[in-house]
Amino acid sequence: MNSDNAGEATADTAVGTANAPGVRAAIARAKLEWEGTVDALPDLICLLDASGHLLRMNRVCERWNLGSIAEVLGRDLHRLLHNRCAAERCQLHESLRSAWLSLREEGTAEFEVRDALLERALHVTLRRMTPGTAGVASEPLAVAVVADVTALHLAREALNTINLELESRVRARTDALADANRDLQNEIARRETAEQALRRSRNELAALSRQLISAQEMERKRIARELHDSVGQQLGAIKYSLERCAELLQQGRPPDSQPILQRAVASLQEAMDEIRSIAMNLRPAVLDDLGAASAVSWFCREFAQSYPSLTLRETVAVVDADIPERLATAVFRSLQELLNNVAKHAQAQNVAVSLARTGDQLVLEVTDDGVGVEASASSASMRSGRGVRNLSERAEMTGGQMRLTAGATGVGTQARIEWQLAAGEGRKSDAA
Ligand SMILES: Nc1ncnc2c1ncn2[C@@H]1O[C@H](COP(=O)(O)OP(=O)(O)OP(=O)(O)O)[C@@H](O)[C@H]1O
Ligand SMILES: [Mg+2]
Ligand SMILES: [Zn+2]
Repeated sequence: MNSDNAGEATADTAVGTANAPGVRAAIARAKLEWEGTVDALPDLICLLDASGHLLRMNRVCERWNLGSIAEVLGRDLHRLLHNRCAAERCQLHESLRSAWLSLREEGTAEFEVRDALLERALHVTLRRMTPGTAGVASEPLAVAVVADVTALHLAREALNTINLELESRVRARTDALADANRDLQNEIARRETAEQALRRSRNELAALSRQLISAQEMERKRIARELHDSVGQQLGAIKYSLERCAELLQQGRPPDSQPILQRAVASLQEAMDEIRSIAMNLRPAVLDDLGAASAVSWFCREFAQSYPSLTLRETVAVVDADIPERLATAVFRSLQELLNNVAKHAQAQNVAVSLARTGDQLVLEVTDDGVGVEASASSASMRSGRGVRNLSERAEMTGGQMRLTAGATGVGTQARIEWQLAAGEGRKSDAA
């Protein structure tokens, strides 16, 4: 601990009359040792008098570039640390002033301050050395220890930064987990919905195939009945007529056989017509031999021959290759049912059939100028008939959609079935 002469005086006073040379040398040695020890400390250590002025201090003030000990003695702590401070409200000054007050009242004070002028963080401790009232003004009243805690502050700050970063990372991670969880929940919900839809469509498919089987059975029964009731009976009648003619000829009565033969020929014509219409309603060979477009043209011709009172206009703007194999039967059966409905219900004079490709759709249209569905259909007939229902079910099963509406001018009926084609399905012909 150094001071220019006060130290010597204090030592002398403290030792009193012990003036023997040996004692003085021992004291000088002890003093040197003590000063060396205090100078080696890293903290700034100062003795302050009753008015807060510096009496003694260690050499740390030189290491901190505050000035030489001789220069700074007699200053107060603020002037020591901030020699050229011009701040109106200096934080260090304020803190020192209130620390000095609490030192006087409580005997001790400490504070920490981040000092911009010194570019250091300081920990200041003031402790009163002599309890009771302040003695003589120049006597040491308190010791001040000023420690440089910049490294501690920086470490604390770094720790804070790391903590904040960690917190924000944890938050981001938590958010990401929450997002993933939400996505997972959505995925589960989506799958459940998809499973339900799958179950539903399986059930529908089962119902449809049951319907299909019973429809096939009904169709077979109908054909059997038609063959038996109409053609069978007609052929029986013709056989009977021919036998009768043979008898008459044997009896030498050819003129009598004449009208019977004529009736038999007419019946034969009827039976042939009947067979033609039954065959037409079955799957025609042309569907297998050629393709759907040709089968549509063929059926239109057959239909026109069967119903000479109806004028049929046919526009098939596609070739067989335009219609995918999977749609061939659907197109053909739909046309059959629609034209049969026109013949059965419409009382029309004209009917137009068109089959075309527009973009990625295959479109079948049958338009008549008859009485219209509204006029012809009682709700009972709509319920009992299977044709229209079969049409729309068949369309849906093959990726299509059917609409049955009044004709464009409000007259007659327009049926339109659109099938969605997959990319590259059926080739787009130049004829289309
Ligand atoms: N082109 C049309 N013009 C007028 N009415 C029609 C036409 N097509 C269908 N309808 C009416 O719609 C009803 C239902 O037709 P749908 O084909 O379902 O039954 P159906 O022809 O009576 O019986 P099925 O087809 O089972 O032999 C018909 O009874 C008819 O009244
Ligand atoms: Mg019908
Ligand atoms: Zn200051």
